[in-house]
Amino acid sequence: MYRTHTCGELRSTHIGQQITLSGWVKTIRKFGSITFIDLRDRYGITQLFFNERMNALLEANPLGREFVLQIKGAVMERSNKNANLPTGDIEIEVSEYTVLNASETPPFTIEDNTDGGDELRMKYRYLDLRRDAIKRNLELRYKVSRATRNFLDNHQFMEVETPMLIKSTPEGARDFVVPSRMHQGQFYALPQSPQLFKQLLMVAGYDRYFQIVKCFRDEDLRADRQPEFTQIDCEMSFVNQEDILDMFENMTKHIFQDVKGIDMQEAFPRMTWEYAMEQYGNDKPDIRFDMRLKKLNDIIKGNGFPVFDDASLVIGIAATGCSEYTRKQLDELTEWVKRPQLGMKGLVYVKMATDGTIKSSVDKFFNEDKLKQIAEFCEAKPGDLILILAGEEALTRKAISELRLEMGNRLGLRDTAVYKPLWVMDFPLFEYDDEEKRYIACHHPFTSPKPEHISWMDDESKYIDIKANAYDLVLNGTEIGGGSIRIFNKALQEKMFSALGFTKEEAIQKFGFLLSAFEYGTPPHGGIALGFDRLCALLGGSDSIRDFIAFPKNNAGRDMMLDAPDVIDAKQRKELGL
Ligand code: AMO
Repeated sequence: MYRTHTCGELRSTHIGQQITLSGWVKTIRKFGSITFIDLRDRYGITQLFFNERMNALLEANPLGREFVLQIKGAVMERSNKNANLPTGDIEIEVSEYTVLNASETPPFTIEDNTDGGDELRMKYRYLDLRRDAIKRNLELRYKVSRATRNFLDNHQFMEVETPMLIKSTPEGARDFVVPSRMHQGQFYALPQSPQLFKQLLMVAGYDRYFQIVKCFRDEDLRADRQPEFTQIDCEMSFVNQEDILDMFENMTKHIFQDVKGIDMQEAFPRMTWEYAMEQYGNDKPDIRFDMRLKKLNDIIKGNGFPVFDDASLVIGIAATGCSEYTRKQLDELTEWVKRPQLGMKGLVYVKMATDGTIKSSVDKFFNEDKLKQIAEFCEAKPGDLILILAGEEALTRKAISELRLEMGNRLGLRDTAVYKPLWVMDFPLFEYDDEEKRYIACHHPFTSPKPEHISWMDDESKYIDIKANAYDLVLNGTEIGGGSIRIFNKALQEKMFSALGFTKEEAIQKFGFLLSAFEYGTPPHGGIALGFDRLCALLGGSDSIRDFIAFPKNNAGRDMMLDAPDVIDAKQRKELGL
C-alpha cells in the first residue's frame, strides 16, 4: 500500500496512529541534526520530522525538491502549530522512508508566488499544475462542469457528442483544417462550434441537447480567447426566446449557488443591443459601475473648435472624484487614448472642482456657461472630471468605452468579487463587412430575424435595421454566452444565405445537408452556448482564461510544452499529398 492517508488529511484526532504517506518534497529545512520536510500531494501538505537517527540516513542519501517520497511514521502533536495549514496541528515522526523517484531541480519554485515567468511555466506546465493556485483553478473548473451537468440532467437535457472532423462552413471565424490522406487535396475542418449538429439533433427529435465541448477558431488571441476553447453548448426545441433566457438564467444562478455559494435572487437585467451601444459603447457592458456615455454632438458643436466641429461623434464620461487629476496624469491618459489600439487624436477634459469652479483644456472655445452646460449634461458633480473624445463614430465609440473601463479600473469600480450579469438582446441580424464588401451575419447565418422584420429581407437597404432573435449573456464586461432562435424554414434559410452573398449553388454545396434536413419536419428551436473557460475565469476572479485550462496555448497560439505547431516529416507530407 503506497499510502494510508493523503497529505491533506491528518488532524490531531489521528495522533498516535501509524500511517503511510506518499507525495512530493516541497521544502527541506535542516536544523542541526534534525530535518523537517513538507510533503505535498493534491490534497495538501504535511510536515515530516526526521529525528537524529533518521536524519543520519538522509545525510547519506540527500533528497531534493520534488523527489517522490513514501514515508511511514507516527502522527505526533506539533509543538509550534501552524494555524494556516489544515494539517498544522500535527507532524509525522518518520521511522522509514523510500525514495519512489528522484527529481531534477525544478526550473521555478512551485509556490503560489512563483519565480517562473509565463513562458517557462507553460513549457513545464506539468510542474506549474502542481502549484496550488493553478490546482484551485482546475478544481473550480471541475465544479462548474459538475454543477452544469447536474442542472441540465435535472432538466431532461441529454449530452450527445458531435464530430470533430467536419466540413469547412463559414461561421464567423477562420477554420482550422486537417488534410485528408484518403482523399488527397481535400480537407476536414475542426468545428468552430457544434452549431449545425445541434440543429440537426433538433430535427432528429432530441429536444433538449447539451454538450461540454471543444471548439476551434483560428483567430487573433487575447486574454479571453484561445484557439481551442470549451463551450457549454445547448439547444432546445418547441421554445421561444423567453423559454431559453429563463432556462439559462436559472442554470447560471445554479452554477453560482453551487460553486460560489452566491444566491443571485434578482432577475438578470435586460438591455437592447442599441441601448448598450449608446450608453456603454459596446455590446458587453460592465454594469458594476455607471459612468454612462454622453453624446455631446448637439450641445458642443458649432463653437469654433475644429476638433469637435469636424467630428461625427463627440462623446464624454464623467469620472467620479477625479477633478484633482494632475497635468501629468492627464497627459498620461491622453497618451493612453492615442495608442494605436484606440487611435484617438487627443483627449479633452473639463474639471469640475469641489468648490464648483470649472476649468478645461478648451477654455479658449467654451465659456463658463457652456462648460457648465456640458457638465450638467454629463451629470457631473463637483469633484468630477469630464473626459471627452471626438472623431469618427465607430472608432470614437470604441475608444470611449475602453476609456470608461480604464477609469473604472483606476477607480477600483471593477471588483472581481462582485458579479453583475445581464442579457443583451435584439442584436442586428447583419453587419456590413467593409473588407469583404458584403453583409455578414452578426451572430451566425442560422439566426432568425424578428418576425416583424422578415419582410425587410427582400430589401437590401433595410438589412442594417433588421433585428434578430439573438441574445448574449454578459458578466462583468465579458460576453460569456451567446445564442439565438433559429431559422427553421427552408425558404427563409435560403433567403438568408442569399442575403449573405451565397449563390444557390454555393449554398447547396456548403449547407445542402441543412437545407435538406429542413424538408423533413424541423421543429421550432433555439439555443445558446456559454464560454466555459470564460465563465470559470470570472468565477475564479480572473480575466485570463489560460490559468483555467490545464494545457493552454500561449498568446501566439503555441503549445510551449509540446512545441506545437511543428513541421511534419517528408513521409507524412507525401502521404497527405502536401
Ligand atoms: P459564440 O460564437 O457567441 O456562439 O460562442 C459562444 C461563447 O463562446 C465563448 N468564446 C470563446 N471563448 C474562448 N476563446 C474563444 N476563442 C472564444 N470564442 C467564443 C464566448 C461566447 O459567448 N454556435 C453559437 C452558439 C449558439 O448560437 O447557440 C456560438 O458558438 O463566451
